Amino acid sequence: MAPSICFLLLCLLFLSSSTTGVQDHEEGFVSITISDKGLDFAKDILIDQAVASIVLSQLPQIEKTVQVPLVGKAKVVLSEISINDIQVNSSSVNTGETGIALVVSGATANLSLNWRYSVSSWLVPIGISDSGTATARVNDLQVGLTVNLTNQEGTLKLLLLDSGCHVRDLSIKLHGGAAWLYQVLVDAFAGSIASAVEEAVSEKINEGISTLDVLLHSLPKTIPLDETAALNVSFVSNPVLSDSAIELAINGLLTGRNEILAPQGYHRGSGISVFPVDPSSKMITISLHENVFKSGSLVYFTADTLQWTVDELPDQELLNTAEWRFLIPQLYKQYPNDDMNLNISVSSPPDIQVTNKDVGVKISLDIILNVLEAGEVIPVACISVDFSASCAAEILGNNLAGWLKLKKFSTNLKWSKIGKLHMNLIQSVTSSVLKTVLIPYLNSQLMRGIPLPILNDFALENARILYAPPWITVSSDVSFLGHYYHKQLPAYVS
Ligand SMILES: *[C@@H]1O[C@H](CO)[C@@H](O)[C@H](O)[C@H]1NC(C)=O
Ligand SMILES: *[C@@H]1O[C@H](CO)[C@@H](O)[C@H](O)[C@H]1NC(C)=O
Ligand SMILES: *[C@@H]1O[C@H](CO)[C@@H](O)[C@H](O)[C@H]1NC(C)=O
Ligand SMILES: *[C@@H]1O[C@H](CO)[C@@H](O)[C@H](O)[C@H]1NC(C)=O
Ligand SMILES: *[C@@H]1O[C@H](CO)[C@@H](O)[C@H](O)[C@H]1NC(C)=O
Repeated sequence: MAPSICFLLLCLLFLSSSTTGVQDHEEGFVSITISDKGLDFAKDILIDQAVASIVLSQLPQIEKTVQVPLVGKAKVVLSEISINDIQVNSSSVNTGETGIALVVSGATANLSLNWRYSVSSWLVPIGISDSGTATARVNDLQVGLTVNLTNQEGTLKLLLLDSGCHVRDLSIKLHGGAAWLYQVLVDAFAGSIASAVEEAVSEKINEGISTLDVLLHSLPKTIPLDETAALNVSFVSNPVLSDSAIELAINGLLTGRNEILAPQGYHRGSGISVFPVDPSSKMITISLHENVFKSGSLVYFTADTLQWTVDELPDQELLNTAEWRFLIPQLYKQYPNDDMNLNISVSSPPDIQVTNKDVGVKISLDIILNVLEAGEVIPVACISVDFSASCAAEILGNNLAGWLKLKKFSTNLKWSKIGKLHMNLIQSVTSSVLKTVLIPYLNSQLMRGIPLPILNDFALENARILYAPPWITVSSDVSFLGHYYHKQLPAYVS
């Protein structure tokens, strides 16, 4: 008994050292904080998975020869010893600076087994034998383990530092058999059965931890978003364990899929070293720095994906010079009755800023009016547009999506080969393009969202978004959809 208590005390001592985490210098732009409640939830899943793996496991056969008074020398064999059921009464998880400790105490387990014996003695020279079944019950099973979680080149490494399992009370119920057999089982076998249970549980813990480690190791370091961009989900720095939470930092920036160089020059900003912690008692909080969005803006801009040719408008007549014969006589005179299209291009990386209530977006565009004549595309005028929009963040599945709303815009005629255009005209064309074409298109893209770093088998539940410039935080509970133990290596949602 003493070793197990020592062990549990050790777990707690080991963890109760000071909780000030020292952060590495590499900066993460996405942080995940798993709260007490989240850890408890994870612990329960892990225990369920562990119990599922232990139940029905068969322990090795035990064989002993014992001298039984008045009976003789009995060779007793216990076989098909299996653990049929485990009930966990109480468990806890604790984090400390150097590791995570999980303790299960007072668990009970039911075992079934077969027995057989043969006795030979000078009294009974022929020898007698018998066989039957029995059940055993572990009334107080204690299990404790501590693991360390570290960052290994961008992925997490889970290391089992210590584990122990102790059976404190075992009772046996014999079906059939003789009274002496019962006594033999209690005296000579109970300890061996208990040890076999302890060994089986310890072995499953080792297996389980390495399965989890393989799983963590197999998580991708980048998640492709589309042909253009990928999200860097490499872990930066070691997890910070405090007595109430685990905090993980992820690079979180978007990079071009074909880009060789990592994006440079993003900083969280001076004086901001701590993420806003949502006081709500949710399981996890994921914080995204506005640089995540800024990096996306740069990647899509640099890849020339922010330009579109528009040859369809809800008001299709606008795309024919005939429609303009009175308003822009010169256009109609030079190109009578020709179709037109618009070349819209974003002229600098959109500026994105998290504010107290939304994500503010500023975009500068050039809208080039083209005339299509005899298979040729002839640019005739260019309008430059600056507009600002408000983007409301939303959670869709496990993705962070957004919905843009136009706030205001200003326009300017950049150049024209068809004479001066009226300001009113420019503004109404721009307004129509923004409202009927560009914003709806951008929203269709934004609605796909970016995946939040959640394991595949988990879903966000009752997520709440908080704006804490320059961070957006998503606080959420999660639900478990699958069964890790039986599945091979699930990955992030992509
Ligand atoms: C379960 O735990 C509670 C308190 O933690 C204790 O009172 C109760 O007796 C335990 N039940 C069993 C079956 O061990
Ligand atoms: C556990 O991990 C931390 C970093 O997270 C490390 O500093 C510490 O040395 C590790 N402890 C052991 C015993 O491996
Ligand atoms: C386990 O054993 C106990 C006592 O022997 C019994 O009351 C209980 O029903 C058993 N549970 C299962 C699932 O067999
Ligand atoms: C992803 O982030 C890690 C950690 O910050 C960094 O070392 C790595 O270079 C980044 N990868 C790319 C492709 O930018
Ligand atoms: C649209 O305009 C941009 C900027 O003036 C230019 O680089 C691009 O080639 C044009 N696209 C088409 C399809 O004409």
